[in-house]
Amino acid sequence: MLEVTPVREDFVAEIAGVDLCAPPTPEIARELRAALDQYAVLVIPSQPLNEAQQLKVAEVFGPLEVSVGASIYNAKRPRRLDHAQLSDISNLDESGKLLEPGDIRRLINLSNQLWHTDSSFKKTPASASLLSAQEVAPVGGATEFADMRTVWDTLDPALQSRIGDLIAVHDYFYSRSLTGFDLDGIPPEWREMQPPVKQVLVRTLPHGNRRSLYLASHIRSIEGMDDEESKALLDELMALATQQQFIYRHRWRVGDLVIWDNRTTMHRGTKFDEKYRRAMRRATVQDTGPTVLQ
Ligand code: OGA
Ligand code: MN
Repeated sequence: MLEVTPVREDFVAEIAGVDLCAPPTPEIARELRAALDQYAVLVIPSQPLNEAQQLKVAEVFGPLEVSVGASIYNAKRPRRLDHAQLSDISNLDESGKLLEPGDIRRLINLSNQLWHTDSSFKKTPASASLLSAQEVAPVGGATEFADMRTVWDTLDPALQSRIGDLIAVHDYFYSRSLTGFDLDGIPPEWREMQPPVKQVLVRTLPHGNRRSLYLASHIRSIEGMDDEESKALLDELMALATQQQFIYRHRWRVGDLVIWDNRTTMHRGTKFDEKYRRAMRRATVQDTGPTVLQ
């Protein structure tokens, strides 16, 4: 039996009593899935997983994605990680040295510091993500999570009915552009690999009957609205969703595994001094299908 200790009432639990370096038994798999459905963020300390072990844990939640970084930027050059299913969330190059200040990979990872949910820019987005910490910065570099079910529950009913059926357009390169990425400077084939997609703005969850605001900095526009109206609405929702009372801040220790549900939470990285090494890797589980007809 896993020991599940809530960090707060219905969002974030710490898990003990399990060694995930050993392949998860069917029973552990079932308990992990149930805990994730209930809490949306699971913190599991002291799990020094290697790549293969991390992938085994991730498969408990469904089929895995191939990392966007692996398919776009690094398709023709060496990667730090051996498996294309693992996203490189680090400031290290393929030989394990700190990236040069101007390296494009630094710029790409900077977008992780905007509030987002993983892979909402894919037709079939991510359900769960599993982030494993190998090296952490001594100060800074925490990751923040917001519970989008509670956010939805606390929205004004008039706002709920105004936005309940809206469709948003998510674009991987839109969020990159917000952190200084020069969109004109990238090869057209990159854009073709990751074209904009539609997603519902409010999800109805398969487990339980709660709804959840499906927000992300990847959203470029709302269908049926002009740019001004769409930006005003998105700014308003982002401000409401990221109020202090909805947020859990995770300070990393080496060996932490944090699993989150992208259907019900947003997250963002926070700043740290780039002279420090920070090395994590993420396995990302595919949801069962698109949230909307494309
Ligand atoms: C991620 C992510 C934030 C961080 O791995 O999906 O957004 O703090 N990470 O590294
Ligand atoms: Mn992320």
